[in-house]
Amino acid sequence: MLPFHQVVKSEFNQVNELILSQLHSNVGLVENIGQYIIDAGGKRLRPLLVLLSANSCGYKGTQHTSLAAIIEFIHTATLLHDDVVDTSDLRRGRATANAKFGNAPSVLVGDFLYSRAFQMLVAIDNMDIMRIIADTTNIISEGEVQQLINAGNPDVTEDTYLEVIRKKTAQLFDAAAETGAVLAGATPTLQAAMGRYGHHLGIAFQLVDDALDYNGNTEDLGKNVGDDLAEGKSTLPLIYAMQNGTPDQAAFIRSAIEEGGIDQMDAILDAINTTGALDYTMLCAKQHAEQAQLCLRDLPDTPERKAMLELADFAIQRKS
Ligand code: IPE
Ligand code: IPE
Ligand code: MG
Ligand code: MG
Ligand code: MG
Repeated sequence: MLPFHQVVKSEFNQVNELILSQLHSNVGLVENIGQYIIDAGGKRLRPLLVLLSANSCGYKGTQHTSLAAIIEFIHTATLLHDDVVDTSDLRRGRATANAKFGNAPSVLVGDFLYSRAFQMLVAIDNMDIMRIIADTTNIISEGEVQQLINAGNPDVTEDTYLEVIRKKTAQLFDAAAETGAVLAGATPTLQAAMGRYGHHLGIAFQLVDDALDYNGNTEDLGKNVGDDLAEGKSTLPLIYAMQNGTPDQAAFIRSAIEEGGIDQMDAILDAINTTGALDYTMLCAKQHAEQAQLCLRDLPDTPERKAMLELADFAIQRKS
């Protein structure tokens, strides 16, 4: 548990129990794979966000724990699918489900988690929340497909890159924070502010993820660094280094993206460092984290609000 989880410790523990109990299936392989990835933990930031948002908007009921588990199931489903698409073999410090069980079971169990999330959502019985989550899963898929189309293309612009990360990552943070507020019956203005907080936090989070893919540590992250370059992904560190490097640097980054693979990693890291591409990426992340914090201006001063401010700082400082 990270320090900002403590504020909602007992509810957070309930969410963890709910996640385990809701994994139930009579099909053994579904439970095995589901448990395999869930047991590995993860930071559980998105379910935390649901709890913090609902509580800071004055929620007094019990459905927020279920909503939090739903959001974590959706996140876990996207990870199962993402690791197949990215051919990644390490996640949360252990072999990815695709590396251990194969691609087909990973995709199918990802579908199971998605649909279990929607079964639980029906039980919450709130059409506004249903709409937000349905739109969210649709947008995430679209973002992942756009990114797939862009793989191997060195002409991806910063704007196109930002559009992809808004969809594939920020949208779920947005939905977590917004639905927490909707459940609490917050005013439309407050609901929107919470959604914007989640959105900026999510962009910051993915920008940092993309920086860590170049300067992070496998042990801390629990996943391999260099996977983005291996898949020919034009993320911001590369986009910036191509724009601001020498013609030579730009040319070999272009060909590394076109060909994929990490053979050129040392030269790429050199170009990234000499152009200040990671500093630039982190600066953008910091600006989004600050914008996220500004969205909390009108919230009452509660421990939950403080935790959300800290969460935005964590998104920038994190190593894992
Ligand atoms: C990983 O998210 C996917 C991204 C959006 C970068 P997290 O870093 O929150 O993954 P876990 O749940 O903590 O493993
Ligand atoms: C996040 O992007 C993907 C999702 C929204 C599922 P990445 O592909 O960079 O995530 P990691 O690095 O594998 O966790
Ligand atoms: Mg990935
Ligand atoms: Mg990916
Ligand atoms: Mg990544």
